Amino acid sequence: MCSIVHFDINGCHYKLPVVYGTFYEKAINISKLRENTGLITFDPGLKNTGIAKSSISFIDGEKGELLYRGYPIEQIINKCSFMETSYLILNGELPNTAQLKSFSEKIKKFNHINQEIYQILDKIPDNYHPMGILSSLTYILTAFTNCQQEEDMYLHLLAKLPILAALTYRKKVGLPPSYADHNLDYTSNLLKMFFSIPNKSYQQNPIITDALDKLLILHADHEQNCSTTTVRLLGSAHSGLFSSISAGISALWGRLHGGANQAVIEMLETILNSGGNIKKWVEKAKNKKDPFRLMGFGHRIYKNFDPRAEIAKEVAENLIKKLEIFDPILELAKTLEQKALQDSYFVEKKLYPNIDFYSGIIYQAIGIPKDMFTVMFALGRLPGWMAHWKEIKFNRDPIGRPRQIYIGYKKRNII
Ligand code: ACO
Repeated sequence: MCSIVHFDINGCHYKLPVVYGTFYEKAINISKLRENTGLITFDPGLKNTGIAKSSISFIDGEKGELLYRGYPIEQIINKCSFMETSYLILNGELPNTAQLKSFSEKIKKFNHINQEIYQILDKIPDNYHPMGILSSLTYILTAFTNCQQEEDMYLHLLAKLPILAALTYRKKVGLPPSYADHNLDYTSNLLKMFFSIPNKSYQQNPIITDALDKLLILHADHEQNCSTTTVRLLGSAHSGLFSSISAGISALWGRLHGGANQAVIEMLETILNSGGNIKKWVEKAKNKKDPFRLMGFGHRIYKNFDPRAEIAKEVAENLIKKLEIFDPILELAKTLEQKALQDSYFVEKKLYPNIDFYSGIIYQAIGIPKDMFTVMFALGRLPGWMAHWKEIKFNRDPIGRPRQIYIGYKKRNII
């Protein structure tokens, strides 16, 4: 294994060290490049830049493999709950029974929000997007939350974000606020806070709880994606946890990132309502003059398949079957996937369905409205964001501050 790379620039010889990861992924350490050569690197979209050493999750995009703290996602999905996964991601190891109990109990202790937040929510216009509401209220939580110990911050957010999400949903559909039920596990409580109706006892449906728990797990972490990098950048400036998470939520909202789950269902509905001509839409996606892209397809890292998409597809199929509903959107999604994967454009560019291609179908079957899909994604991603924020503090990473190639005016005078 080489630990140094040698290169020549304009007749001068330079050496740079190589850093290795657990699975021998390698990177040239360019931290002294400008100092030694006067050059910087140019990498729009950071496609080729490692910005951190991290031990939270690992993706092998060529093999379609995802590990959380070393455990394959396929094992976690079958053996762990979202609570166990959150503990694992935040603390590095799976909890034993006592640790899990204590973690869940502490979250329940913080399972309420200040009354004034209800009043703030009331003042927000009804047509404002739920992701904007979640980001704003997460930021505002800072003013109302008193954390005695650092660990409490993480637990407060795990406890309070589902409340903010449920309140936003209930305001949208005209239901009064609901409160947490301490007798329930995390995901059952989340569902009850969303869907319980005043003066009616709420019946849990274990099929739905299980599907949602699995979807939260699938979203729990995904190394240096756009929103996580946002959270890490804020963390590197020593911004607070709540404001960093608020910024992560805003980044996730984008349609090329987490907002794709809403965009996928809207796209599938448009295709269905316009006659279901899949070939026409696949051709549109391939046409470079047309801005349309097949939403839920493609990924910066996965160039074989997204293992989360395969699991989400299975969860969606099982859920629809067990709930005995016929969903034409699921049928359309499966046909569209099949057609795209037979097309040389998608094959050559290695474009496969990503997690967002099937997640919306699950949310819709559960009864979550389209503009709340990305909010659910944010609830799942929360442990990952927090673990990265914690890691950047622990590693004492320097402030994130890239350089640029300036292409504006030369120096000039005001006349
Ligand atoms: N439909 C049609 N063409 C596509 C698609 C798509 N969904 N995705 C990528 N391509 C094409 C691009 O036009 C480009 O073609 P070119 O090389 O001829 O110019 C090539 O494939 C590479 O695409 P890039 O956009 O350069 O790849 P990048 O890694 O920058 O983007 C992204 C990845 C943003 C996910 C992209 O595939 C995309 O826009 N997908 C649709 C949106 C989506 O599903 N986002 C969710 C991602 S998962 C997540 O964030 C949770």
